[in-house]
Amino acid sequence: MSILITGIAGFVGVNLAQALLNKGIRVCGVDNLSRGTLQNMATLRENPLFSFTQVDITDSEAFIKVCEEFAQQEPITECWHLAANSDIPAGVSNAAVDLKDTFMTTHVTLDMMKKLGITKLAFASSSAIYGDHGTTTLVEDIGPLLPISNYGAMKLASEAAISAATESFLEQAWIFRFPNVIGIPATHGVMLDFVRKLKHTPDCLQVLGNGTQQKGYLHVEELVDAMLWIRAHAPEKRALYNIGAEDDGVTVAFIAEETVRVAQSGARIEYGQGNRGWVGDVPRFVYSIDKLKKLGWNPKLNSTQAVQKAVRQIVEQEQNG
Ligand SMILES: NC(=O)c1ccc[n+]([C@@H]2O[C@H](COP(=O)([O-])OP(=O)(O)OC[C@H]3O[C@@H](n4cnc5c(N)ncnc54)[C@H](O)[C@@H]3O)[C@@H](O)[C@H]2O)c1
Repeated sequence: MSILITGIAGFVGVNLAQALLNKGIRVCGVDNLSRGTLQNMATLRENPLFSFTQVDITDSEAFIKVCEEFAQQEPITECWHLAANSDIPAGVSNAAVDLKDTFMTTHVTLDMMKKLGITKLAFASSSAIYGDHGTTTLVEDIGPLLPISNYGAMKLASEAAISAATESFLEQAWIFRFPNVIGIPATHGVMLDFVRKLKHTPDCLQVLGNGTQQKGYLHVEELVDAMLWIRAHAPEKRALYNIGAEDDGVTVAFIAEETVRVAQSGARIEYGQGNRGWVGDVPRFVYSIDKLKKLGWNPKLNSTQAVQKAVRQIVEQEQNG
């Protein structure tokens, strides 16, 4: 018995795979290594319960062949679909990016699961599916859902395709709507950008936007814990859950100050204009995790603590890398 993870070489994939291996579960995974790296999987690859093949999921023939080969070695009981585009601005300027890597990867994964008789799917969705609701609290059944990025649109389309598949061949779907997730191995995101910018120009950190964008942040260790909790406890066939920290979040200015403090004490911070970092960025959102709390899971770190922990880890990652 094994679990298949798509996008396994990426940030969340590596952490999820390690948590499953720690439970003694066999893990097989695919990634096209467009963003994830072999280096990220160095520890995983030492484990005899782990297998990896590089393939682009949208090359459906090649992908299905790889999955058949995995299944011949060990039957696959469920699939965790994490592969997606992580560069939201790239998807705003070219809609084909998210059509391919955020939606078509889901479509092809569902097709592969149907062909191989895999009936359980866990999906990494996003708060981006909600669009901009201002200060209204984002509960799972709020509407209408009008995403403001192609990334959010293609995640929402993926949720819809998974819901439809649950009516035909899927026996179980877990849909997790992540907030901003942080930690290591960082492959993208505001903290990694700041640390790399400071490496380039150590005396000054230039920030996109005026620094007032405020969001909740969850550490990846807590995210993985919450997903596995939902997998074990959610009663619904279509289990749809927000996962996040339980607070109003922290501002980009706080993250900039924390990064400067840890990475390059004394550097000055220069802010841009407006409260959006880029088109398609939701400047502020308030997330409800009441449904998840009712299921019995609570985050241990608040956004401030998660940011402080992740900044330390990412600075160390970039020093060693
Ligand atoms: N990190 C966050 O803050 C966050 C927030 C909301 C949702 N998510 C979702 O969680 C999932 C994991 O995110 P992450 O932060 O680990 O991102 P990541 O970019 O580190 O990992 C995604 C992986 O998918 C791979 N990939 C992309 N297109 C592929 C394709 N066509 N074929 C095969 N592999 C492909 C990439 O190489 C990468 O390794 C994604 O679906 C993402 O949309 C993440």
